[in-house]
Amino acid sequence: MSKIATPDISHLTAQDYESIYEPAEDSFLMLDALENELPLIMAMKPSLCVEVGPGSGVLITGLATALGPACSYIAADVNMKACMATVATAQKNACSVETFCSDLLSGCGRQLDGKVDVLIFNPPYVVTPPEEVAAGDLQHTWAGGRKGRQVLDRLMPEVPRLLTPQGRFYLLIERENDPEEINAIFRSMELFGKKILERKTGPEHLAIWVYTKLDRAL
Ligand SMILES: C[S@@+](CC[C@H](N)C(=O)[O-])C[C@H]1O[C@@H](n2cnc3c(N)ncnc32)[C@H](O)[C@@H]1O
Repeated sequence: MSKIATPDISHLTAQDYESIYEPAEDSFLMLDALENELPLIMAMKPSLCVEVGPGSGVLITGLATALGPACSYIAADVNMKACMATVATAQKNACSVETFCSDLLSGCGRQLDGKVDVLIFNPPYVVTPPEEVAAGDLQHTWAGGRKGRQVLDRLMPEVPRLLTPQGRFYLLIERENDPEEINAIFRSMELFGKKILERKTGPEHLAIWVYTKLDRAL
């Protein structure tokens, strides 16, 4: 069975984690989901994988080590230190990820339209007062505002135009984010979703969902 080796992030220090997200249960749930999906992803022969909010770079690097250099890898984080950490993590694991410091994918303009085969987002998902969203590097990692969705809600309308016809969007959703409403919004954009993995960790109920343009591809 195809595997995703957990990337080596030993170059990142406690000081780095004062300003970037230290991989945690949510990150590892996404890595496990991507590993389960690897046969499907490989069968697509993807040309481009993109991550929004890579933090340490652990997810996009994991995918890059598994899929190899035939595919390109791009990641965009609003936190410049996360972009630098992602480049360093990719290098440490002998692969290459291009990063943009930008709000969502705005830094890429329309260049990614219709080109993304795999899109990944582990968003800041914790329900907080709206003013905590984007209040600083660390708040960027977890503060999600209303329903924990303020950042995700801005990415959602972009997803259909980013994905290739076979493209797959992997999204981490916490139960308080209202998965049913998220699904209804995606369905209104003709994106179909399926929960592929879930785990309860302490008070959080985390799940990974995949969205595609073809419901038969789920
Ligand atoms: C929960 S952390 C996930 C980090 C990493 N992907 C992981 O799974 O370990 C959320 C990430 O999203 C980034 N982020 C938050 N708001 C963003 C925005 N508007 N545009 C781009 N990245 C953003 C944060 O800086 C942080 O790196």
